[in-house]
Amino acid sequence: MRLFIDTGSVAEVEEIAAWGVLAGATTNPSLLAKEDGDPGEIVKRICDLVGGPVSAEVISQEPDGMIAEGRALRELHEHVTVKVPFCEAGLTATHALTAEGIPVNMTLVFSANQAMLAASAGATYVSCFMGRLDDISVDSGQVVAEIVESFRAGGVTSEIIAASIRHPEHVITAAQLGCEIATVPGKVLKQMLNHPLTDAGAERFRADWESRPEFAEWLGKLVGERTRA
Ligand code: E4P
Repeated sequence: MRLFIDTGSVAEVEEIAAWGVLAGATTNPSLLAKEDGDPGEIVKRICDLVGGPVSAEVISQEPDGMIAEGRALRELHEHVTVKVPFCEAGLTATHALTAEGIPVNMTLVFSANQAMLAASAGATYVSCFMGRLDDISVDSGQVVAEIVESFRAGGVTSEIIAASIRHPEHVITAAQLGCEIATVPGKVLKQMLNHPLTDAGAERFRADWESRPEFAEWLGKLVGERTRA
């Protein structure tokens, strides 16, 4: 499963892209509204940083407006994927945009039936919102499993994005169920780093190595020789 970052923050993408784990990013109007600066510049900078698909969302509520906004967003950068909210107008726009070769991430999908419609309209990606399902006491794992199984059974090629990720367990569930992508907030990506045994193990390695000062000298020389060669 590939990891995208779900954010509107260039600083956050700069920090986490340096780990080498990101295959793309998703923004949305709420995330961009929290940031200072021109949203187009933000999206372009995120595209450069992740070097993969970056979703930027249309706002219009009727098909022609969505299509016009989608074309314009796509022109911002070759990595832009147009994010279209699930609704009748969104399906029409998704069909038109993908027919032009513009990749579409159909968002706000909460059921296998909606996912099937999104895929049938041609969506490149279908985003199922796990956290918001859990918020209304619907088992997000069950819904994601239904989407994955129905796509596999029917040979559907749209990629499933697990979105609205609230904690590291959502990421593992999405991977186990077979989602192609999870789009994960920076806070959760950082939570994924942590394990107390990793910290304790690193501290122990460091202390044992430092108990032999000649080892540090040996390693320094080894690196120096290689740098000079
Ligand atoms: C997905 O692409 C959305 O940007 C996002 O995952 C929404 O998550 P939220 O429910 O935390 O707002």
